[in-house]
Amino acid sequence: MARSIETLSVHGGELRDKAHDSLVTPIILATAYPFENTDELHRYFRGEHIRGEEYGRYGNPTQQVAEAKLAALEGGLPNGGDTDALLTSTGMSAIVTTLLAMVKPGTHLVITADSYRKTRVFVREFLAKFGVEHTSCEPSVDGIAAAIKPNTKLIITESPTNPYLNCIDLEALVKVAKEKRIKTMIDATLATPYNLQPLSFGVDLVVHSATKYLGGHNDLMAGVVIGAKPLIDAIRDHQGMFGALAAPFTAYMLIRGLKTFAVRMKHQNESGQRVAEFLEQHPKVERVWYPGLPSHPAHAIAKKQMRGFSSLISFTIKGGLVEGSKVVDACEIPYLAPSLGGPESLIEQPALMSYYDKAPEERAALGIRENLIRMSVGLEGTDDLIADLNQALNKI
Ligand SMILES: Cc1ncc(COP(=O)(O)O)c(C=O)c1O
Repeated sequence: MARSIETLSVHGGELRDKAHDSLVTPIILATAYPFENTDELHRYFRGEHIRGEEYGRYGNPTQQVAEAKLAALEGGLPNGGDTDALLTSTGMSAIVTTLLAMVKPGTHLVITADSYRKTRVFVREFLAKFGVEHTSCEPSVDGIAAAIKPNTKLIITESPTNPYLNCIDLEALVKVAKEKRIKTMIDATLATPYNLQPLSFGVDLVVHSATKYLGGHNDLMAGVVIGAKPLIDAIRDHQGMFGALAAPFTAYMLIRGLKTFAVRMKHQNESGQRVAEFLEQHPKVERVWYPGLPSHPAHAIAKKQMRGFSSLISFTIKGGLVEGSKVVDACEIPYLAPSLGGPESLIEQPALMSYYDKAPEERAALGIRENLIRMSVGLEGTDDLIADLNQALNKI
């Protein structure tokens, strides 16, 4: 029977009968898993004997439960094949491991220009050293289609993006990619599987920084890549080499965090929408970017393909960098910090966080406005957050 995302958050991927009759999934710390005798070893390597793990870098029972839960939450494939997930030590290690598994010298990648900054740097500065070509394109399906070359093997995109929450039309994207037999990888960290299920549109690989909404408590670093089992098997082989594992304790924390995933997302969707609406009518606010607002350029696409719009909001204030800092510093509830998706609301100025190393002119060229503020709405009371933002904005 198909289960709701609420039920999958609690029970998805978990064995009913767990070791030692434990109600919760145990943390298995073992680095190696002994064979009963040499005969069992032979049968295991010949694929005749199915048993647990062999060596910790190739898999761990707690990690496997976290992976099965993440695969269950991400939903099925349109052709009904098996979905699998690979848990990694960080979101970046999910991206790097996936890309290294998918490319070889002479491969051409298309990457949308507003993808996560470190993903772009990896493609531009690291993969280029090994003869992997790329085109950075305008973040739209037309932009992607125009960037495709005969040797394009993979399209890398993101939806929504940071900080302007641009959304890509997945139906149109998959149509373009499938016509040319190109694989698609989407970073859907900001959407989460609660709000967007890219595999159901035919996207090949979904990556998430599980550090954000999936972990959900600002207390773990992890990443995940999810897709059809054969593709994930190939990426898993690379992870066995690279060794960028999430520790068993992290896997447990992730399973624990995911128990409340659906209820957290419901609250954060509602709260994000209300805070965005409040900001949009505030006299000290110049412009708000939130896909749930009809004023957002990608609102129609977001509405068509998403259940809700998560809780990252970007806005410009009437003023410059200094006035922006005044607002951020006057906030009493959100912390001044990077990241997003946890219970504690976080607020920052992208010009002074991710782009601190750039001169104002370089930031302008990258589209990073000096008066831009980004807020991750957490799990606090929405009225409290609105009152806090109101008093902070009224200080300028
Ligand atoms: C959209 C997106 N992708 C990937 C990452 C990288 O994730 P991690 O920090 O877990 O390596 C981040 C982190 O901020 C992100 O926001």
